[in-house]
Amino acid sequence: MNILLLGSGGREHALAWKLAQSPSLTKLYAAPGNPGIAQEAELVALDVTDHAAVIAFCAERDIALVVIGPEAPLVDGLSDSLRAAGVPVFGPSQAAAQLEGSKGFTKDLCTRAGIPTAGYVRTASLEDARAALARFAPPYVLKADGLAAGKGVVIAETLAEAEAALADMFGGGFGAAGAEVVIEEFMHGEEASFFALTDGTAIVPFGSAQDHKRVGDGDVGPNTGGMGAYSPAPVLTPELQARVMAEIIEPTVRTMREEGNPYSGVLFAGLMLTADGPKLIEYNARFGDPECQVLMMRLESDLTAIMLACAKGALAGVELSFRDQTALTVVMAANGYPGTPEKGGVIALDNAETNGAKVFHAGTALTDGALVANGGRVLNVTATGANVTEAQARAYQAVDAITFPTGFCRRDIGWREVAREA
Ligand code: AMP
Ligand code: GLY
Repeated sequence: MNILLLGSGGREHALAWKLAQSPSLTKLYAAPGNPGIAQEAELVALDVTDHAAVIAFCAERDIALVVIGPEAPLVDGLSDSLRAAGVPVFGPSQAAAQLEGSKGFTKDLCTRAGIPTAGYVRTASLEDARAALARFAPPYVLKADGLAAGKGVVIAETLAEAEAALADMFGGGFGAAGAEVVIEEFMHGEEASFFALTDGTAIVPFGSAQDHKRVGDGDVGPNTGGMGAYSPAPVLTPELQARVMAEIIEPTVRTMREEGNPYSGVLFAGLMLTADGPKLIEYNARFGDPECQVLMMRLESDLTAIMLACAKGALAGVELSFRDQTALTVVMAANGYPGTPEKGGVIALDNAETNGAKVFHAGTALTDGALVANGGRVLNVTATGANVTEAQARAYQAVDAITFPTGFCRRDIGWREVAREA
């Protein structure tokens, strides 16, 4: 069968790499892709906001499955257009993608379904929001309702900072995403991510991960899309995972279905492990980036068959198998990230992939045959090991084999677990 994969990040390179291993794959196409994805797929130029063009491409190339990597086309309803045209899709409908596209939608769903999460108020004006602050204690958690490329959350230490952030959000600082603002209770605990696949009814756990959002070693500096991750996250014990399934994932899938918005695809739950148990911070309607890279390194099962089962409502009874190993990925970013990254710096991957490591491309380009940096997060250097300590050592060994003078990476990915393992 032929598959079309949409996206251009490290997440999509990992998906392409895994899809390409499938015995049932005839031909993989990717749009827009990147030089890493080009090793696994034929890159095609397609405007994903032009739904008719994507549908026409699928008819022309006999596409049996479309895999949507990032959130924007999901929230834009591309899955609905494709399904209406009879093309199977891995990814939720526009209505179901509200779990990522609207923080207020998700919070209200948690209320209706009794899902543990931080207390909250939805506000639609600066006046309401300022008044609502009185009901919370610092630090104040303020969230622009809509998609804001991971930058829509402000944690304000003082009332003055919170008021300034609200003025910015309602003043258009986050574009349309800030037309509504959710104010939340601050939760204490350790963060972890949990993934589950669902076809709207059946649910299959897809594992855990922990990432590193801050740009600097020791978790300092501005937030990023993620500077590294590892899977599994031992802090999410089998007991806690069972609670997450029973108290968070299952009621979400059930309620979405009962309310007429069945969710199909991968559900990515950001969790806070509080003294009262796991609570939902937020949902994403897609795989995490770079969490996907470590999940794909561990997955033994045929990704094509799994995604097709999800797309066709045939997930019941599907069993997944993962390598009993830890995978860890280190993001190499271009200098300047998460501000304006320096583009064009030449990269030599040399022997980075000896020793079983895998380098997934994110923001790379080929210029006159040379691999160059072309974005903020550029490479995801990924390795496996018996535990986080071993996977980390192998990943940094691969990092050290790469020549990328205009790039940088954190040197402490996995530090929490490395400390616990010591
Ligand atoms: P989000 O985009 O909703 O995942 O939020 C980004 C980050 O803000 C999370 O990964 C947490 O570190 C932090 N955060 C969000 N909501 C809360 C909360 N209610 N309590 C504490 N930290 C939070
Ligand atoms: N790494 C976090 C995310 O993909 O949202």
